[in-house]
Amino acid sequence: MVNYQENLKHLSPVWTHLTDIVVDHAEGCYLYATDGRKMLDFTCGIGVTNTGHCHPKVVEAIRQQAGLLIHGQVNLVVHKPLLELVDELRTVLPSTLDGFFFSNSGAEAVEGALKLARHATGRPNVIVVQGSFHGRTNATMAMTTSKNSYKIGYQPLMPGVYVTPFPYALRYGWDEEKASQWCLDELELLLMTQLAPQETAAIFIEPIIGEGGYLVPPKTFMKGLRELTQKHGILLVADEVQSGFGRTGKWFGYQHFEIEPDIMTVAKGIASGMPISGVISRLELMSKWIPGSHGGTYGGNAVAAAAAVATIRTIKEEKIIENVVTRGAQLKAGLAHLQEKYPQIADVRGLGLMVGTEFRDAHGKPDKKTTKAVQAECLSRQMMLLTAGPWDNTIRWIPPLVVTESQMNEALNIFESALAAVI
Ligand SMILES: Cc1ncc(COP(=O)(O)O)c(C=O)c1O
Repeated sequence: MVNYQENLKHLSPVWTHLTDIVVDHAEGCYLYATDGRKMLDFTCGIGVTNTGHCHPKVVEAIRQQAGLLIHGQVNLVVHKPLLELVDELRTVLPSTLDGFFFSNSGAEAVEGALKLARHATGRPNVIVVQGSFHGRTNATMAMTTSKNSYKIGYQPLMPGVYVTPFPYALRYGWDEEKASQWCLDELELLLMTQLAPQETAAIFIEPIIGEGGYLVPPKTFMKGLRELTQKHGILLVADEVQSGFGRTGKWFGYQHFEIEPDIMTVAKGIASGMPISGVISRLELMSKWIPGSHGGTYGGNAVAAAAAVATIRTIKEEKIIENVVTRGAQLKAGLAHLQEKYPQIADVRGLGLMVGTEFRDAHGKPDKKTTKAVQAECLSRQMMLLTAGPWDNTIRWIPPLVVTESQMNEALNIFESALAAVI
C-alpha cells in the first residue's frame, strides 16, 4: 500500500501546493479526493479543463487513439490526429492564420513564437507588457513580469526583453482611456529611447492578463498596439495560452478587440488536460523559420492531438461558448451584488469565465491578507479558487466552461459565506 502523504514529502519543494489533496478521480466541475472529499474545482487545473474534468468524448478519443498509436514522431512520420487538429483549428481561426507548429507546454509555445519572430523578422529584441506571464523556462522567465519570485536566483536572464506598461486603470486611479493613451505614449517613448523599432521583432501580450491579475485591456490599447506594430513591421504575438478555447466567451481572447495578431500561442484548454501547445501564424511567416532550427521529440503527440480534436469538436457540439457567455454574466452579476455588500472587493472584471475579484483595503491598497483568507475559507467549504496579481490580491474565477447555473450558484454561495466569515 502506497503511503501517499509520506511520498508527498519527497516531491521537490520547488513545486508549491495549494492543498495536499490526493485526487482519486474527477468529473465535470468536481474533484474527488482519496479521503472522500468532493471539491468544487473553480481552478480548472489553472485554466486547462475547459470541457470539464474527464469529458466522456475526450476520454473516448484518448482511449481510442492510445490503442492505435501513442507516439508517431513528427520528424519521422505524420499521423492522422495531427492533421485533423490542423483541420479543426482552421475552422475556428481566420483564414490568414494558416501555419501550425505544435509543442507540449505553454512556455514551449511562447519560446517557439519568440524564435519564429526572430527568424521571420531578422530582429533580436522583444517587448512584453508589465504584468505578463509567459512561462518559467529560461526565455519565458525573462519575458515574465507578473512577480519577481519567478526570477529570483536565476539572474542573469536572457537579454533583449523590454517591458512596457499595461493600462491597469484601477491601479493608476485613471479611467481606462487615459490609462490606455498613457501606455501607448510610453511604448512609443520606449521605442524611441531604449530599443529601435528596426531591432524589435515582436510585442507579446496576453489578450487578458492572466497570472498578472486578470486584467482586460481597453480596446483602444489593443488597437493602438496593432497600429503601432504594423507601422514599424513589428509582429504582434497574442499569448492565448490561458485565454483561448472559449474561456473568454469567444474562441480566442484577441477577438474581443477587433484586431488580428501575427502569431498566437495556444496550450492549456486546447486538449482538456493532455499536454499539447501550439504556435499559430501565417504560413508565409512560418516559411521564414529555418527548417530544423526548432522542434522537439513529443510535439504534436498523437494522443494529445486526438484529445485536442475531441475538445474542439465538443466545444462546438455542446455550444460551450454560449454557456460561457451566460454563466459569465451570472458570475459577474453575482459578484457585483456581493461587491455592494463588501466594498473590500474593489473590482469585478473579466470576460466570459475569466473573471477576477480584486481586494483592496480602506486606504485603497492591495489587500492580500483578506484575499488569502477568503480563498482559505472557500477551500474549507470545499471550493478551490486561485489568486493572481503581483500582490496576490485578486481571486481568479476560472471554472470549467461546462459549469451549470446551479453549480455557479453553489460557488457564489460558498464565496458569500467565506466573505462573511472573513470580513
Ligand atoms: C498566458 C500564459 N502563457 C504561458 C503560460 C505557460 O504555460 P505552461 O505552464 O504550460 O508552460 C501560462 C501558464 O499559466 C500562461 O497563463
